[in-house]
Amino acid sequence: MATDTVTPTPHATGKPTEARHATAETASCTTVKVRALSREFDGRGVLHDINFDIRDGEFVALLGRSGSGKSTLLRILARLDDEYTGTVQAPKRPAVAFQDSRLLPWKKVLANVTLGLPTRGVEGTETHARAEEMLAEVGLTDHAKAWPKTLSGGEAQRASLARALVRRPELLLMDEPFGALDALTRLRMHQLLRTLRQRHRPALLLVTHDIDEAILLADRVLVLTDGVLSLDLDIPFPIVGRRRRPEFTELRDRLLEELGVADDDR
Ligand SMILES: Nc1ncnc2c1ncn2[C@@H]1O[C@H](COP(=O)(O)OP(=O)(O)O)[C@@H](O)[C@H]1O
Ligand SMILES: [Mg+2]
Repeated sequence: MATDTVTPTPHATGKPTEARHATAETASCTTVKVRALSREFDGRGVLHDINFDIRDGEFVALLGRSGSGKSTLLRILARLDDEYTGTVQAPKRPAVAFQDSRLLPWKKVLANVTLGLPTRGVEGTETHARAEEMLAEVGLTDHAKAWPKTLSGGEAQRASLARALVRRPELLLMDEPFGALDALTRLRMHQLLRTLRQRHRPALLLVTHDIDEAILLADRVLVLTDGVLSLDLDIPFPIVGRRRRPEFTELRDRLLEELGVADDDR
């Protein structure tokens, strides 16, 4: 598997150079490898010595209070920010989904899904077919020719998922993708994400502040506390029927405690 290695440049030496983007072989079962990652904004440390891996096809949820550094970490993995120290190995072209679906309003849904992909010739035909297939998978076949503004919040997020997965990413990064949806739509999105994940098997990092969402979907949960990775836990029980398992409540309590939230209903 070809991954891109990003080697550290101390802040003092200024802007990163091309040398940071040398390609390197990595252990074939690891999609993401983060070592000694730190990030400062104007001299204020926001991420401190972060270390973790994401294995191929693994689904990792990243929890943390507001301001703990989750989006900063995700943006670094997405290559939207390279002003850090430490090493990050990650696929060259991860797919990213945000809370706002970020569909281009002047392009119809299908064109949003194929955005940036070849749309002419044989490759174009293949792209088109794959995009239609993805829209079917997310239940938007009838909306392929619709304008984004006519979609509901849930539909827009489904289109955004189709756009991400049509690229067959090794890594899918999601920053609170369901945060703006109503509770019922969010539950349906969880189901859809589980199905898509089974089918496409990208490595997945889901940033969320919803503990239940993290436990219901992920293989592993990370907690960021003030820029420090304070917990890294495998979720060892089967994904099916999780909510009804006693381990669900135990893990939920553990995470609430880690996040410093008292649950008065216990
Ligand atoms: N571009 C930036 N410039 C200055 N400070 C920033 C910038 N981006 C994030 N921060 C700060 O870094 C901290 C972590 O932010 P963020 O990663 O967005 O947190 P989270 O996603 O966990 O809510 C916050 O204190 C935020 O104000
Ligand atoms: Mg954030």
